Amino acid sequence: MNELIEAIKLSKIYNLGETHIHALKEVDLSIARGEFAAITGPSGSGKSTLLHIIGCIEQPTTGSIIIDGRDTGKMSQRALSKLRLHKIGFVFQHFYLLPTLTAYENIELPMKEAKLRRNERQDRVHDLLSAVGLIDRKRHRPHQLSGGEQQRVAIARALANDPPIILADEPTGELDTRTGSGIVDLLVDINQEYNKTIVVVSHDQEIAHRAERIIELRDGGIVDALY
Ligand SMILES: Nc1ncnc2c1ncn2[C@@H]1O[C@H](COP(=O)(O)OP(=O)(O)OP(=O)(O)O)[C@@H](O)[C@H]1O
Ligand SMILES: [Mg+2]
Repeated sequence: MNELIEAIKLSKIYNLGETHIHALKEVDLSIARGEFAAITGPSGSGKSTLLHIIGCIEQPTTGSIIIDGRDTGKMSQRALSKLRLHKIGFVFQHFYLLPTLTAYENIELPMKEAKLRRNERQDRVHDLLSAVGLIDRKRHRPHQLSGGEQQRVAIARALANDPPIILADEPTGELDTRTGSGIVDLLVDINQEYNKTIVVVSHDQEIAHRAERIIELRDGGIVDALY
């Protein structure tokens, strides 16, 4: 089966007292293995909500999200955590590295969670550090790294358990144009060399240009799916 991510009539309603916010309205979307897709659209259009639901860190109010052929709405919490750990890597605008851990330890953390053995962890962390160009920064803590370097560590951490899917929410939002451009190059590399399926939410024109596909959201619905 070629579809890695499938969203069927996804709706999300946030209820805040008397107010009901319809953040997503019956969104249908399929993303194939190996695709590089960008989600764009104005602020408040539901981009992060959609990405969080795809990443199984939020649940839809109605509709289904199917990852690698499995309907996530029918899975136990335990099975869902396992799926998140092995199938999905998340990259955020604000990096969210653990401040007390070194670059090495931040990347190693999801591997510990997946109960990888020490030797295996060591090899993989080194491979990932070199893939993101940070071997000589492995003992640095986040505050001893630049923004671009922190985002590289976050990307390496997202790849820790070799998941087929990488989701990124405004990964260049905190970075200057040149540094952001380096992060886009890295994501393109990861898509092409490691054959990862990538979905990036972004206002960044460069990401939109380099993605194979642009999914445009407006007011909780897809207005255009350009190829
Ligand atoms: N946890 C929440 N509780 C209530 N409302 C929420 C919640 N999260 C998002 N919303 C609302 O849902 C709508 C979609 O939000 P979302 O964060 O998905 O937008 P976005 O497209 O990512 O915007 P931005 O570009 O500003 O990040 C907004 O109107 C927002 O206020
Ligand atoms: Mg957002």
